[in-house]
Amino acid sequence: MDYTLLVEKAIEAKKNALPTYSKFHVGAALLTEDDKIYTGSNVESSSYSLTLCAERNAVFKAITEGERKFKAMAVAGDTIGFISPCGACRQVISDLCGEIDIIMIDSKKNTKIHKTSELLPFAFKDDDLNNK
Ligand code: THU
Repeated sequence: MDYTLLVEKAIEAKKNALPTYSKFHVGAALLTEDDKIYTGSNVESSSYSLTLCAERNAVFKAITEGERKFKAMAVAGDTIGFISPCGACRQVISDLCGEIDIIMIDSKKNTKIHKTSELLPFAFKDDDLNNK
């Protein structure tokens, strides 16, 4: 699979980040089953814990536009090495996007791809809610 465009969109999405406090820009781009792309960037609040990561913003944008099936997500940051989604975002990707390719990008635009379940093994799933 060629993720060149998705990677470019994630890098571009960093520009719209609002990292007022951390100054750490993150961009994400989510690819739907029918090849639409939804982007997201991190947005911070003065009440720090209300901050929303780029990945979850991309997922929630797509979901609230009616999308339900996804193929891949690319994530870009200002890190020298590959940026990797935080634990909270891994849970949301697992719940709402399922087993997709997650493309992590470094400062030279090299990419490293892992499946959701590789980033979040033994994930808590909605099935678990009924397993009591
Ligand atoms: N951040 C993301 O947007 N995605 C990640 O995967 C890691 C962290 C944001 C949250 C916060 O605005 C800033 O980066 C520093 O943690």
